[in-house]
Amino acid sequence: SALLAGTAFAQDYPTQPITVIVPFSAGGPTDTVARLVAQAMSADLGQQVLIQNVGGAGGTLGAGQAAAAANDGYTLLLHHIGMSTAPSLYADLPFDSIDDFEPIGLITTVPMTIVARADFEPETLEELIPYIQENGEAVIYGNAGIGAASQLCGLLLQEALGAKMTEVPYQGTGPAMTDLLGGQIDMMCDQTTNTTNQILAGEIKAYAVTTPERVESLPDIPTAIESGLDLDVGIWHGLYAPAGTDQAIIDRLSESLQLALADETVASRFAELGTAPAPAEDATPAALAETLASQIELWRGVFESAGVAAQ
Ligand code: MLT
Repeated sequence: SALLAGTAFAQDYPTQPITVIVPFSAGGPTDTVARLVAQAMSADLGQQVLIQNVGGAGGTLGAGQAAAAANDGYTLLLHHIGMSTAPSLYADLPFDSIDDFEPIGLITTVPMTIVARADFEPETLEELIPYIQENGEAVIYGNAGIGAASQLCGLLLQEALGAKMTEVPYQGTGPAMTDLLGGQIDMMCDQTTNTTNQILAGEIKAYAVTTPERVESLPDIPTAIESGLDLDVGIWHGLYAPAGTDQAIIDRLSESLQLALADETVASRFAELGTAPAPAEDATPAALAETLASQIELWRGVFESAGVAAQ
């Protein structure tokens, strides 16, 4: 029967390389997380886990491509908090974050950093706040488009300051970092997985981290909260398969994700980059489903009260 054939297929899985769509540029924060996890999952699954970067439209292009892919376990999506913000930010999203995907598990929650080009005038967050309020749209702020983590942080920052900066969208904050280093843009709010090395090398300025506690790998950078700015956001990441993927495949992938997150190399690279692997109980379909649903509701409410409309 079809059911038995499906079961036999799932038991053999995987018999060919698996492609993970990352909906942002190569070399950026999501890509960095994906490549570390993919390498460890490859070792467990006995098949290559390849990354395909599909940047554009704040991550919604790549997510849409994954939603439309065959649900045979050979095309997956690794995406972050954007899965929960995009439904409120786009009037015509080409996918449904809940209905079009099978959650596999949570991966990590990455702190963000408010950063600027090395020669940007303000030295501290206390100086940056009035500087943005006075200079407004003269401040050029890079992000990865509507639905990106960097755009969300920018929204929250502008909302908290009652100011509007000029936003320049990229296909990922990897290329935005190149322009920040080159001085083409003034500022970003970007994940520690993309900013830690440049901060520690003194190539960019860091004003604050967006987590309630300081980040261990960046002990000298104050939290936004301790500098008087009410900004608390962490960028959670999840792994998904297209809707209708065989449950045995989902379970196999979740188990493999848990093993990858328990890998010492993954854990130590994550720690160097300011983050930590999700615990095994969170690298599960149920935990990701719950986070996704509750975050969609949370951000819908935040955007509604801030008067941010879908476009
Ligand atoms: C990326 O990988 O480029 C980022 O996650 C972009 C973002 O969401 O800010």
